[in-house]
Parts: sequence; structure tokens; C-alpha cells
Amino acid sequence: MEVSKRISSLQVSPTVALNSKAKQLKASGADVLNFAVGEPDYGTPKEVVDIAVKALQSGKTKYGPAGGGVPFRTAISEKLSRENGLDYPPEQIVCGIGAKEILFHISLSLLNDGDEVLLTAPFWVSYQDQIKAAGGIPVLIPMTDGKPCFDPKVIEQYSSPKTVAYLLCSPNNPAGYALSQDELKVLGNYLAEKDWWVISDEIYEYLTFDTPHTSLLKVCPQLREQFILVNGMSKSFAMTGWRVGYCCGPAKVMKLVKSLQSHSSTCLPPFVEEAACWAMNQGAPLMAGQISLLKSRRDLAVDCIKSIKGLDYIQPQGAFYLFIDVRSALKDSKKFGELDSMAFCEYLLEEKHIAVVPGEAFGSPGYLRLSYATDEDTIRKGTQRLQEAVEAI
Ligand SMILES: Cc1ncc(COP(=O)(O)O)c(C=O)c1O
Repeated sequence: MEVSKRISSLQVSPTVALNSKAKQLKASGADVLNFAVGEPDYGTPKEVVDIAVKALQSGKTKYGPAGGGVPFRTAISEKLSRENGLDYPPEQIVCGIGAKEILFHISLSLLNDGDEVLLTAPFWVSYQDQIKAAGGIPVLIPMTDGKPCFDPKVIEQYSSPKTVAYLLCSPNNPAGYALSQDELKVLGNYLAEKDWWVISDEIYEYLTFDTPHTSLLKVCPQLREQFILVNGMSKSFAMTGWRVGYCCGPAKVMKLVKSLQSHSSTCLPPFVEEAACWAMNQGAPLMAGQISLLKSRRDLAVDCIKSIKGLDYIQPQGAFYLFIDVRSALKDSKKFGELDSMAFCEYLLEEKHIAVVPGEAFGSPGYLRLSYATDEDTIRKGTQRLQEAVEAI
């Protein structure tokens, strides 16, 4: 008996695989420092937890409405207006089990077999495989001169008559960069001339340290009929395990995304939705302390990496990742080739007991992603071990 060729061709998320290897090593007694995780080390605000517990106790234990209830979608609509200057009625908002499910359902809703989606490297691991699972073809725009490339002339070279969408992630996982308003304008003006969907993953929106986040749609309102905004509460509100994501966009797309949820996960758990609704109404001020903590960790991680000879990095303005360029260190080593970041990561885990994610996972071999959503002592110790490893190879 056969299984699906399309699904068999997907790779298991390398971040998940690496995380479990690091956990296994740790369980066997090794002093593993884990920089591979994609979630804050601090917990969900207590008030949010308390509301969920009360909601459970009061019987919010049944199915809820597919795509999210009216109170939650109203809270999101108000947030989009208050924090992003965007006007979306609750009817054009769909909630789902994490931004991951939302993005998956968007791919399934938009793509037909052979349709191409443009992705600027480095990009989050799951985009590629979700697009493939939906029958599409991810088309990767590689970095130029060690930087992600948003130059319309270059994007044009990677486009084809089969291109149906462009996917943007700013602030970015894995590189932490955030596009400036000027960069957004150039990109947006180019995309507005195209007959493509524009998917904007803004899940790291609260985690910006230098300038506040601006949505591409705010800068280029002419994109509205082709624009789909994706966001969620995992990163901004430290609610990774709660699985709350949402999107807003043209009614005909939202209808399909909602229909897919009704046939897959059905709904958000109602007790989760009630607590998420309260947090959404508080907005960014609820997380101000955590965001300034992350900023100081960003500064520390950058200082530590800067001092290591042979390493370079993309300046991170947001999220909680540092994307480290190890090409020159690997090129000069006897053990590894310039682009062997996967093998170097295995070496780092096995020999130095530090877990970082190889750039291969993000379409950019020769790089490592280090998550600094951990305490300062661990950042200092881990980067010291990285320095020793670079010197040793
Ligand atoms: C860029 C990006 N988008 C979406 C997601 C999915 O987030 P969640 O499904 O937890 O809402 C992640 C999680 O790591 C991410 O990094």
C-alpha cells in the first residue's frame, strides 16, 4: 500500500528534531545549553492563566464556533485598529490553533498544484513544507551579500507566470531583522503592481526593540485586496502552548480558511479564547516588562557574538533570534566546508553541548540561529562555548 508522495517529501521540522536531541542529551546528564527554542523562557501573565482556569471551572469545556467567537474577533478587530491603524471588521477575521495552523490553511486556501510562492531567505522552516503540502512550489530568494534581499529587481528575477503569492515575515524569524517604513514602501509599491497575494506574518510584532512595528498594509494601503495579515499570541504574549493564531484579509479568503478549520481542529478551546480575549484587550502594555528584558538580552547576545573573531551576524531589531554568519569561520577550518552549518551544529551539540539551529533549516546554509530568549548567564556561557568551538576548528 502506498502513502502520499507529496507528504512523504516533506522534511520533519529541523528545529523540533534538534530540540528533542538536545533534551535527550540533557536527560542523560549532559550540561546542555539550549539556544534552539522558539519560545520565551518567561511564562504567560498570571491574570491570563487565572481567567482560563475560572473559565474551565465555570464550564467552558464544550466546542466553540469555528474561526473564533464574536467577542474574541471583536477584540482582535479593536486591537488592529488601536495598535496597527488597520480597519478590519470581526467578519474578516479568522482565529485558529496557532499561526501555524492559520498559515497552513492559508496555503491550502490559496494554492493550486504548481503555483509558486516567493520566500525571501532566511525564512521560517514551516513555510516551505506547508506550501509543498498544499501542492505549491516555494521559490527561494537567496540572501545577497549576507543580507535578506527585498530589491524588487531581484524579486522580479525569481518570479514567473506561476507566481501567486509573496510571503513576508517582519520582524523576522530566524534573523530578527525588521523592515523599515522606507523598505516596506518600496516592497509594497512593487507588490501592489502584481496580481499576487501578499501574506504578511507579523507574529513577532510586539518584540521590536528599536522602532515600533509597522504593518506593510499600513504603509501601502493599496495592497488591501491582496493582503492577508497573520498574527498570533505565542510570541507576543508568551502563550506558545495555548495555540492562538489569527488572520484577517479579503472575505473570500477568510471564508475558505474558516471552512478548513471547521473540517480540521474545529475551534479554539473556549476557555483559551476567553483568556486570550482579555489579553488581546490589554495589548502591548501587558508585556512591556518582558519586552525590555528581551531587548537587554539582545544587546548582550550581540555584544558577545561581536567579540568572536570569524563570526558575523545580521543586526537583529526584533524577535529573539540572532542569525550568525559562520561561513568565514568554517571556510578557515580543517573540519568543515564553508556551508557545512548542519554538521557544525551537530558538532556544537555533541562536543560543546550547545544547541543552535543550522541555517539549512531556513534556506541559508553557513549560518546558525541562536535564540536569546534565555537568561543572561546562559547567554554568556553559551557564547563562550561557541567561541571555544570556533577557535578549536
Ligand atoms: C515566523 C513564525 N510564524 C509563525 C509561527 C507559528 O506560531 P504559533 O503556531 O505558535 O502561533 C512561528 C513559530 O515559531 C514563527 O516563528
